[in-house]
Amino acid sequence: MDLVISPEYTPEATVTLFHGDRLALLNQIAEAGARAELVVTSPPYNVGKEYERRTSFEEYKREQERTIEACVGILSPTGSICWQVGHFIEGSGREKEAYPLDLVLYPVFKELGLKLKNRIAWHFGHGLHETFRFSGRHETILWFTRDTPDYTFNLDPVRVPQKYPGKRAFRGPRKGRPSGNPLGKNPSDVWSMPNVKANHPEKTEHPCQFPVGLVERLILALTNEGDLVVDPYVGVGTTAVASYLRNRRSAGADTEQGYLQIARGRLEQAKRGTLPRRPLNKPVYRPTGNEKAAQIPMEWVEGQS
Ligand SMILES: C[S@@+](CC[C@H](N)C(=O)[O-])C[C@H]1O[C@@H](n2cnc3c(N)ncnc32)[C@H](O)[C@@H]1O
Repeated sequence: MDLVISPEYTPEATVTLFHGDRLALLNQIAEAGARAELVVTSPPYNVGKEYERRTSFEEYKREQERTIEACVGILSPTGSICWQVGHFIEGSGREKEAYPLDLVLYPVFKELGLKLKNRIAWHFGHGLHETFRFSGRHETILWFTRDTPDYTFNLDPVRVPQKYPGKRAFRGPRKGRPSGNPLGKNPSDVWSMPNVKANHPEKTEHPCQFPVGLVERLILALTNEGDLVVDPYVGVGTTAVASYLRNRRSAGADTEQGYLQIARGRLEQAKRGTLPRRPLNKPVYRPTGNEKAAQIPMEWVEGQS
């Protein structure tokens, strides 16, 4: 696919990087009569990141409702919406209270007539170490479709290697034959992928970007080549990059021009084949025990100091 980047939505652009509010972009797409096969996003969590104005939780919910309603308005009849969220945390120390944003937002989608297909748990290894509660190491992706059995779902492109491919059926007409699928197994609704922290090859200056592989799996499963993928909060363009790599068109908005410039640079690297990225389905690294950092410090060994 050619890389044609436009600052406004046009059907000719393969990538739209819109500088401004997400509702303005969603409105442009609606006015052009275009339909998204997939809306995938990680919205602000209202936790006071550098790119967000912290508001009351009620106002935050109202703004999310407006975004979700506009996304449903541009969704194709067979399309999907994937909303990737974590927790909004109020207070500090022992006063901290966690609000799971997926539980808060689920009724909004439901009232708009959508059906939940999966609540995908994204598990990752790194984050803040908590003292007065368990450290948070997962976020979720709510995957919704319209109320139709005809939604797009392609399992084969996202199958993952089986643990025991040599297993054989032990009864029935297939007795003695391999019992799995030669293309691999269903990746399930629990995804272990490192989050994009300092040592991750995809790290940019954005404080909370998606890993490319996370969006890529959704794009492969929920769209076909040439389809339009929309991310109303596109940040440094991870959705645009994954869409481009997989021959899908994309449109995304962000209020921070600097992030969009990084997105443009990443797309150009993707075109040249030089984009640093972690391959989809690369297993999470498990220490062998020989690494220096995996050894028990001398100071912890009884009798040593
Ligand atoms: C969680 S980040 C998304 C990061 C993105 N998934 C990526 O991989 O780069 C949320 C983004 O929403 C943007 N944002 C905040 N308010 C916005 C608004 N009203 N319209 C569009 N973008 C907005 C922020 O600048 C931020 O980059």
